[in-house]
Amino acid sequence: MTKTVAPRNAPYLVELGAGDHWWCSCGLSKRQPFCDGTHEEENTGMKPIKVEIPKRQEVSLCGCRKSKSAPFCDETHKLL
Ligand code: FES
Repeated sequence: MTKTVAPRNAPYLVELGAGDHWWCSCGLSKRQPFCDGTHEEENTGMKPIKVEIPKRQEVSLCGCRKSKSAPFCDETHKLL
């Protein structure tokens, strides 16, 4: 399976601390919007995308999996 699943048709507004975080690209994680390793269990062939945060900040991470700026929301969900 390589098709992305959209966990929801809206972004996730989350506050992230400085460091690397891993956005779920397959949409199957139970820890949305972050990877929990399900992509490997389900053999999706997909990998999480690293989100590098230089300092604590609020970010809008894509939930619809259609953003052209993934892992960040680019408002594409409003067109779906
Ligand atoms: S939630 Fe995907 S573009 Fe906004």
